[in-house]
Amino acid sequence: MRAMTLDTLPTPCFVLDLARLRQNLGTARRVREAAGCKILLATKAFALPAVFPLMREYLDGTTASGEQEAQLGAEAFGKEVHVYSPAYAPGEIERLSQIAQHIYFNSAAQMAQYGAIAKAADAQIGLRVNPGYSNATLGGALYDPCAPMSRFGEVPAKLDEVDWSLVDIFHVHTLCESRADGSVGLIEHVAEHFAPYLQQVRAVNFGGGHFLNKPDFDVDALIAAIKAFRERFDIEVILEPGSGLVVDTGELHASVIDLHWNDGDIALLDASASTHMPDVLEVPYRPDVNGAGDAGEFAHTYRLAGRTCMTGDIIGDYSFASPLKPGDRIVFRDQMHYSFVKTNTFNGNPLANLALRHEDGRVEMISDFGYEAFRERLGR
Ligand SMILES: Cc1ncc(COP(=O)(O)O)c(C=O)c1O
Repeated sequence: MRAMTLDTLPTPCFVLDLARLRQNLGTARRVREAAGCKILLATKAFALPAVFPLMREYLDGTTASGEQEAQLGAEAFGKEVHVYSPAYAPGEIERLSQIAQHIYFNSAAQMAQYGAIAKAADAQIGLRVNPGYSNATLGGALYDPCAPMSRFGEVPAKLDEVDWSLVDIFHVHTLCESRADGSVGLIEHVAEHFAPYLQQVRAVNFGGGHFLNKPDFDVDALIAAIKAFRERFDIEVILEPGSGLVVDTGELHASVIDLHWNDGDIALLDASASTHMPDVLEVPYRPDVNGAGDAGEFAHTYRLAGRTCMTGDIIGDYSFASPLKPGDRIVFRDQMHYSFVKTNTFNGNPLANLALRHEDGRVEMISDFGYEAFRERLGR
């Protein structure tokens, strides 16, 4: 671990701001306490063991999307470990039952196949249902679990065939970067359409996608909807956001390596969309950059691009008040969710390192990725 300032930080590097994280976690605490619900961290969006001790103070545990995330949650976070996978392979439930106390199935068939193993290990059983409610504000059908022919969750038409005596938790996940209208809409939709099943379980999990810490998220509306739901059904309510807990808590710091020209100015960076911000290409979206505007807004416009061989490894066109030069810092905002968890070493590019900006302003590197990180993934 090395102490440094943001200006001397080697790039590329993700920097998490702990003061902002604590502020976001405060929102989660407020919802938990005022609504009387549980909140889990979805580690698929954000898995940084260095700050799990802080997060543990505010949250009830973690939810994993697979065996290794569940292991991380059990080892590094503690508290409750939940896990959901669209399909469990033979042997996984036996192992998961040792580390997760809450195991969610995607279908009645998987639950029939493996539920008894989980029950025998005293795990609570969840069944994911596709509630037919769409509100994803990001990426259209690509991020809508209720899109046509979605593989996520048991369909309503089959719910009467389910052995509900096995089910402890009714699970839905349909939101994505949704504001309170989505969260409230989902809660009301589930109450309206699934009451006979809710009366047979001890908890409901309303999934992730609640974009809690966006300034335009009406937290009080969410609290009121959960309270109304709990008054009607008297069962435990669980939320499992990822993005909503860490939105706007950190940046990806990059450097200009070289400048190029081809019908326009191009700045080649040591960070790339392909390797460090894959969602820029996948969603797609355009990250905000400190001190930069849209193309043409300021005097000097550049295409910001990565160094990989992929022609489309382009972050976007941005303008700056002064010309860029090699060594200049480019700071991409709001890079904490689904960014560092998805990085790769394509073309032999180093992973972006990870750093914390502590509440006293101290900057601390918590990784030192080098050749070993690249080499390890390529086998013996
Ligand atoms: C089942 C489930 N729960 C929780 C989440 C977390 O969602 P978000 O990071 O949008 O809050 C996801 C995201 O895909 C999910 O699939």
